[in-house]
Amino acid sequence: MKYYMAPLEEVTEAIYRNAYHAFFFPMDKYFAPFISAKPNKGRLFNYREKRDILPENNQNLYLVPQILTNQSEDFLRTVKGLMEYGYQEVNLNLGCPSRPVVNGGRGSGFLEKKEKLKQFLDEIFDKCPIEISIKTRLGRYHEEEIDELFELFSNYPYEELIVHPRVQTDYYKGSPRFDAFAGVYQKNEKPLIYNGDIFTKEDYEDVVKRFPKIDGVMLGRGVLANPGLLSVIHGQELPSLEVWGAFLEHLYQDFTENAVNEEKALFKLKEIWCYLRYSFPKMDIWNTRIKRCQNLKEYRMAVEELLKHYPEIPNGAFGKLDEEGR
Ligand SMILES: Cc1cc2nc3c(=O)[nH]c(=O)nc-3n(C[C@H](O)[C@H](O)[C@H](O)COP(=O)(O)O)c2cc1C
Repeated sequence: MKYYMAPLEEVTEAIYRNAYHAFFFPMDKYFAPFISAKPNKGRLFNYREKRDILPENNQNLYLVPQILTNQSEDFLRTVKGLMEYGYQEVNLNLGCPSRPVVNGGRGSGFLEKKEKLKQFLDEIFDKCPIEISIKTRLGRYHEEEIDELFELFSNYPYEELIVHPRVQTDYYKGSPRFDAFAGVYQKNEKPLIYNGDIFTKEDYEDVVKRFPKIDGVMLGRGVLANPGLLSVIHGQELPSLEVWGAFLEHLYQDFTENAVNEEKALFKLKEIWCYLRYSFPKMDIWNTRIKRCQNLKEYRMAVEELLKHYPEIPNGAFGKLDEEGR
């Protein structure tokens, strides 16, 4: 089984993935949040995108950059830029459900434009010199759309197909549509990765029981909420509070040194804590302290106190995330 870290814009960027990789169960691949490839963008990569994918910021781990576009020439131009940094694999985003992206016919909004999508895939798979993997939802409106989409994807030599079993209009609501994923699973003959709602060992085991031949799982919110999740899944010793402390200090230092200012560093740390807080259910550190921090000093004191007083090693026993955690 392969384990991949999902791309989450603003969260699983270089600083987070490096800290995770150093202190918790390392993943086989890390997927970078999308690079938007638009004709009028000017530079190929904006400052944030470039910093995220620079090889020197991603040493010792396998990073797959991701492209969001519906124009083959923009995709191929961006691939060329990525190849200059040494990348040999790229991921195509056909899953993003956000309104502006979908209205522009990109991400999961591209899934309903079958003819245009076919033309796009013909062109990129014909001309792209490096491996392409596809990350998709089941469709734009209905899960049945995946049948035709899967047939289309099957015509191309993709590296792997990563399926998040929801449609665009689901956003992240409800449960994953396992029956529709099963349809893909039964027909599939190429590398297939499952992605969605693995928050606990039981969730993972349920997915593997339903789909024993999948090649891997991609983990997003579950691993953000509990970075020790893969240790739990593997029945390994839980990361100690010292490991947690070192991880949090690493994040703090890296954001402090690299963010443009204190406000931005604090914003990034809070974004991560939106998920991490679930690992500490015995203290409401998020609402009482971290969310309210006005500066990095207050933040650091809150974390120090949490680790000093927390009564047990975080074990991920929080189950699912609540509405806010979506
Ligand atoms: C805040 C946020 C940002 C995301 N950004 C991206 C992205 O840049 N590219 C992408 O393919 N998916 C993105 N996703 C989707 C995740 O990669 C993943 O497919 C989704 O969260 C379901 O997996 P999970 O249940 O394990 O979190 C994002 C999801 C969230 C919640």
